[in-house]
Amino acid sequence: MNGTALITGASSGIGFEMSQMLAEDGWDVILVGRNTEVLEQMRTRIGEKHDQSNVYVISADLSKDGAAQKLYDDVKEIGVDVDFLINCAGLGDFGPFAECDLKKQETQIHVNDLALTGITRLFLPGMIERGKGRILNVASIAAFQPGPLMSVYYATKAYVQSFTEALAVELKGTGVKVSVLCPGPVDTPFLTIAGQTGQNMFKKSACVTAEYVARYGLKRAMKDKVVIVVGFGPKMLIFFERLLPRSVVRRVVYMIQKKPAKKPKEKKE
Ligand SMILES: NC(=O)c1ccc[n+]([C@@H]2O[C@H](COP(=O)([O-])OP(=O)(O)OC[C@H]3O[C@@H](n4cnc5c(N)ncnc54)[C@H](OP(=O)(O)O)[C@@H]3O)[C@@H](O)[C@H]2O)c1
Repeated sequence: MNGTALITGASSGIGFEMSQMLAEDGWDVILVGRNTEVLEQMRTRIGEKHDQSNVYVISADLSKDGAAQKLYDDVKEIGVDVDFLINCAGLGDFGPFAECDLKKQETQIHVNDLALTGITRLFLPGMIERGKGRILNVASIAAFQPGPLMSVYYATKAYVQSFTEALAVELKGTGVKVSVLCPGPVDTPFLTIAGQTGQNMFKKSACVTAEYVARYGLKRAMKDKVVIVVGFGPKMLIFFERLLPRSVVRRVVYMIQKKPAKKPKEKKE
């Protein structure tokens, strides 16, 4: 038995895949999200396939004030310690800042940063006390540069990256390990929710699968890697970006993001 993992954003995409993989590896899992119908289906499926794992479902809207505390209280009520915390829930929004919906901008900051911070703050002291534990925060390669046309999303992910790296230093010698996962475009509902499917960078062929990201992320986190960038392309991007002036970098990101996806060629009869 590996212990108990709590996964936010377990109902879809990367979090969904990580939840299945952890259960397969013998972890007990606490599945967190708003879509409890999907989470309950997961509980049944995992129960059928891996009956050694206990599966708990917690309904949580992480955009709400006090959501982190409520989640923490719900876990206490179940009566288990969280050994592996995965903050995966997140969302984005595409468009010029001045035109995007304010509510959606605030929701991104709530879910991507505030909830992640609160949840980490509440579960971390227990891990330190027990002298062991693991936290995996999901950011993005968006964390490494400003993102015109997705300014709020990129900024929220820069926060996650900076926050996690700082924690990694503070936690040295405590037995608690923290990692930040930085994938490039991944083929999940995220892109549709963010209104990003029209961009070249996010066309299906440019995306990796959620399964690949989840497997790679878990593997590297288990090896105590602090910053986990997924894929050769994103690694190269981050490397070359460091060599360029920031003014060029933000201009390039803007050009890439606004470029519409080419329509697939129609076949001649
Ligand atoms: N897809 C990409 O291209 C990409 C690239 C880099 C990083 N990421 C990051 O990867 C993480 C997972 O994204 P994904 O691609 O797997 O997207 P996804 O399939 O859309 O999953 C997003 C998850 O976040 C949860 N969530 C969203 N709003 C929530 C709220 N208010 N309260 C609680 N949970 C909420 C959703 O659960 P419910 O709907 O059940 O609440 C869902 O499980 C995100 O942090 C995202 O920023 C994604």
